Amino acid sequence: MSSPSYYQRHIFFCLNQRENENACAQHGAQEAFDHCKQRVKAEKLAGKGGVRVNKAGCLDRCAGGPVAVVYPEAVWYSFVDKADIDEIVESHLKNGQVVERLVLDDSIGR
Ligand code: FES
Repeated sequence: MSSPSYYQRHIFFCLNQRENENACAQHGAQEAFDHCKQRVKAEKLAGKGGVRVNKAGCLDRCAGGPVAVVYPEAVWYSFVDKADIDEIVESHLKNGQVVERLVLDDSIGR
């Protein structure tokens, strides 16, 4: 018997920090995470049957940082500012439409 997922969508933000080495934390990851949390709450998307915003450590795609990944679609994003996060929330997390212009290219790894 199948059952619906506890969360409809789950977004993980890499907040990894490294000394003297490139990592998402140096590129505004925490601010983006905080903003996303705030937007998801304001849109009343948070919680069971909705959206969960989680912190993650290194997701091993540092060259594209800051990065986040949305499940169950497994879509990877690289973003620059709050407007990008707003678009991911509105388009993908709320309406299931992938924001193609922010999708991380498959060739980008660590
Ligand atoms: S430091 Fe963010 S993906 Fe590695």
